[in-house]
Amino acid sequence: MDRYIKLGVNIDHVATLRNARGGNYPDVIAAAKIAEQSGADSITVHLREDRRHINENDLENLLNNINVPLNLEIAAKQETIEIALNNQPKSICFVPENRQEITTEGGLDVKKNFNYLKEIIDPILKTDIEISVFVDPSEEQLQATKELGVKTIELHTGAYANAFENKLNIEFELDKLRSSAFLAKKLLLNCHAGHGLNFDNVVSIAKISNILELNIGHFIIADSIFNGLKKSIQKMRTIINEASL
Ligand code: PXP
Repeated sequence: MDRYIKLGVNIDHVATLRNARGGNYPDVIAAAKIAEQSGADSITVHLREDRRHINENDLENLLNNINVPLNLEIAAKQETIEIALNNQPKSICFVPENRQEITTEGGLDVKKNFNYLKEIIDPILKTDIEISVFVDPSEEQLQATKELGVKTIELHTGAYANAFENKLNIEFELDKLRSSAFLAKKLLLNCHAGHGLNFDNVVSIAKISNILELNIGHFIIADSIFNGLKKSIQKMRTIINEASL
């Protein structure tokens, strides 16, 4: 293998499913263990302000139970930063957060919020926690991130994923990601990417030479239904059949 791209598996939606019933099933730690045993280089979770999936308890349990690095996605807000600092994940990825959104809809506007981000992120840059920011693939965002003193960007691949699904402007969106990855290299920024990736659209992304890590969640969790549903139904059928003999 010439080049190895790390895979961070985002397990937020195991917690989404768990929270639908309020108990502890499916267990987030068990899912993280499977991810770890299946080749995930890191586990990613997004601690949202509204705690719609992962909560502080999960974060603590994950850090106590997994053997691969934990990448924590948070909004650049004092409350979540304090939680992150108390838990010491290997890395933090700053993402924009909007209460109404279904998912992280765009990158963090580092240029517009530069002074605020500088003030809030500066103290963490002095710790051992690796910092990245989730940005749209644009030159001005990369330049602003460089100025912030952050060493890693995660490129938002959502617009490309939508283009791929709609079969519209795919090359245009891909070119933005390619040139941003190229610029990241020039600026000596580590380049990660993620959002909306699946078995089909990940191929062109994995060919971009400067990308070091991909973070993928929703599709992997969703696809596992199709890989496991048949077995689960057959097992239930067998148990019911045998018990009712
Ligand atoms: N990277 C970041 C920074 C994210 O916020 C998300 C979504 O939480 C992902 C990657 C993964 O996106 P998806 O769940 O669509 O694979």
